[in-house]
Amino acid sequence: MKNKLLVFILILIGAVAGFFILSFHSKSSADNYPVPFSHYVHTTVHKIKCVNCHRGVETRELAGIPNIDYCSMCHSTLINSKSEREKIIYQLVKENKPIQWKVYYQVPDYVFFSHRRHVKLGKLECTDCHVDMTKQDSPDLKGFSQIIMPLCFNCHQRKNITTDCGDCHH
Ligand code: HEC
Ligand code: HEC
Ligand code: HEC
Ligand code: HEC
Ligand code: HEC
Repeated sequence: MKNKLLVFILILIGAVAGFFILSFHSKSSADNYPVPFSHYVHTTVHKIKCVNCHRGVETRELAGIPNIDYCSMCHSTLINSKSEREKIIYQLVKENKPIQWKVYYQVPDYVFFSHRRHVKLGKLECTDCHVDMTKQDSPDLKGFSQIIMPLCFNCHQRKNITTDCGDCHH
């Protein structure tokens, strides 16, 4: 009985926290970014692989988001001296200034989710759960919608993977 109550309270806290995270997200905008990072430029034009920057996708729970030390691998010199946008990242790298990326995709703490499980073992595509990032030209994700339980649940049902509450919920 006590356990059930605890789970209920945890879920309630998660829901409330989720609400604040969502409302916080909807208030911020790309204008807050010091640099106009473009997935389109890096993945579609320059063919850099997702896993190069999101190094956890095949080995860990979190994909991870690269920061300024990683950008410096390529941007400590000017690749294209005519690009005004590239000068900004070049300058940030020189100052070694960390960038506060907004994280859109988040499940509450009471949910267990692992990228390794889905990307490496399940062999799923990023687009099974995320918008097509190869077309995004700024950190303000177009067409974004949060990953909610029915997405997880329906795919599991289709593929005959567990739908036990306790396998996804702590
Ligand atoms: C593996 C190499 C590599 C890494 C790592 C990398 N970039 Fe780039 N980046 C490029 C290349 C190549 C270009 C295209 C250069 C050009 O023509 O302007 C580019 C272009 C850019 C531009 C200019 C884009 C435009 O719209 O013209 C920005 C801004 C930028 N990168 C930001 C970042 C940030 C932020 C990071 C770290 C999160 C990063 N890059 C990591 C290779 C890299
Ligand atoms: C089965 C669904 C699913 C697939 C497939 C998937 N993701 Fe995710 N992704 C999620 C969920 C759920 C979250 C939120 C995780 C959390 O809050 O713990 C997330 C969060 C992220 C984040 C931000 C937070 C972080 O560091 O983990 C990045 C970046 C990301 N995913 C990249 C990728 C890439 C790249 C791929 C493909 C190689 C991919 N994802 C495939 C479901 C998925
Ligand atoms: C050059 C590095 C780089 C490459 C390559 C790259 N990403 Fe990212 N990714 C980032 C950075 C930086 C952010 C945070 C800023 C943003 O959202 O644009 C990010 C954010 C994301 C997010 C949003 C995370 C969130 O919750 O806000 C997803 C999903 C994602 N990337 C998926 C992908 C996929 C899928 C690919 C391959 C098609 C890919 N990325 C390739 C650097 C990269
Ligand atoms: C597009 C299909 C798809 C989506 C969406 C999806 N999953 Fe899965 N999930 C899988 C597959 C396939 C596996 C089995 C991977 C393997 O081979 O181990 C799996 C395995 C799991 C496991 C391990 C199950 C076990 O037997 O222990 C958990 C936990 C899990 N998923 C949670 C989630 C959560 C939470 C979400 C939503 C945030 C989610 N999944 C979304 C396809 C999906
Ligand atoms: C395949 C993974 C998965 C399974 C199985 C699953 N859930 Fe969830 N559940 C999630 C994810 C992800 C969230 C967080 C996103 C959301 O709120 O939709 C969630 C959220 C919830 C919430 C909070 C909803 C809200 O509005 O805040 C409740 C309650 C819940 N689940 C109950 C259950 C019950 C009961 C079962 C068993 C019948 C179950 N879940 C099975 C993935 C799963």
